[in-house]
Amino acid sequence: MHKIVVIPGDGIGVEVMSQGVRILGVISEKYDVGFQLEEATMGGGAFDELGTCLPESTVRLCEESDAILFGAAGGPKWDVLPSEKRPERALAVLRKQLELFVNLRPVKARKSMIGALPVKPEIVGEGLDMVMVRELTGGIYYGLPKEGNSEKAVDSMVYTAGEVERIARVAFDLARKRSRRLASIDKENMMEASKLWRAVVIKVAEDYPDVELRHVLVDNCSFQIVAAPRQFDVMLAGNMFGDILSDELGALAGSLGMCPSASLGYGKLGLYEPIHGTAPDIAGKGIANPIGMILSVAMMLHYSFDMEEAAEDVEKAVDAVLDRGYRTADITEKDKRTVGTAEMGDLIAQEVYS
Ligand code: NAI
Ligand code: MG
Repeated sequence: MHKIVVIPGDGIGVEVMSQGVRILGVISEKYDVGFQLEEATMGGGAFDELGTCLPESTVRLCEESDAILFGAAGGPKWDVLPSEKRPERALAVLRKQLELFVNLRPVKARKSMIGALPVKPEIVGEGLDMVMVRELTGGIYYGLPKEGNSEKAVDSMVYTAGEVERIARVAFDLARKRSRRLASIDKENMMEASKLWRAVVIKVAEDYPDVELRHVLVDNCSFQIVAAPRQFDVMLAGNMFGDILSDELGALAGSLGMCPSASLGYGKLGLYEPIHGTAPDIAGKGIANPIGMILSVAMMLHYSFDMEEAAEDVEKAVDAVLDRGYRTADITEKDKRTVGTAEMGDLIAQEVYS
């Protein structure tokens, strides 16, 4: 029996979560494996209900679980809260508390969507498949001092050699299993934290002579991602650079709504979530793309439960439904059938079962 904490969060987090849970149900039946789901609150909804975005009970449940499935948190209603009380902060605190320092963000350009991507098909090319390895519990989102008033504000990008080394090893190991190419992203020409980052990555590289390492400055990298994405396979970046660049990478997948992620630590416990936020502009309309969430379930099956075949089933089901011409509004094209969140979830669930 696998214990999974389900945290829908706010906005479209709630909408896409229903579809993620449904896929878990289908996998449970098909593979005759037990998932014990426990719902927990976190984010703006939790604040309204309990006066805190991260209830202690939620943290405890997560600590005792095998995996966490999360939607998204935040929204304009809670933007007025002081930074340390905001929904987005709750997620940061939870990641830190659980020591989930690895954030894997795979990006695939699905074959049947290649003509409709925001980047030209000849640039994206066939079978584009890359992974951003983002450091998740250090860097500028956590460094102290972190404070501000109406006159002056400061955030601190702090990295220790140990923090850089452990995430670099994850990226090198992954590169070894894939193309043996690794691009490390930094801003070494301007920042002390990036100088340390680069020096440590170079040192770790000594243990991976079979992996070809490059260093790319973050500003140039953001250009290269859309100009010549195929030069990259595994990318390694600190917390903020990885956050920003992975949204840009979302364009190569067709939409932010297509992109899953896994946040991992030393053990099997992982937190799985689509990379997008709560999308207030479309929340409540039933049109959000659930594929990022559904692919996050596939990552959970793979990383937390070693259910490779089931994970593959979900990946294949997504492709099959897209191949048959179904699209949600964010990835819609001429001559394709536009469906809502629930119908897309239905179609993928049926496909997983068949
Ligand atoms: P966002 O990712 O929510 O939305 C950006 C754009 O992409 C919007 O136009 C949205 O409609 C579209 N989009 C995103 N996901 C989609 C999906 N599944 N299907 C179709 N379209 C989709 O980012 P935004 O607008 O910057 O942030 C909104 C709120 O979410 C903010 O409060 C932000 O702090 C929060 N946020 C939370 C995250 C989390 O909980 N992990 C991550 C990013 C943002
Ligand atoms: Mg982000």
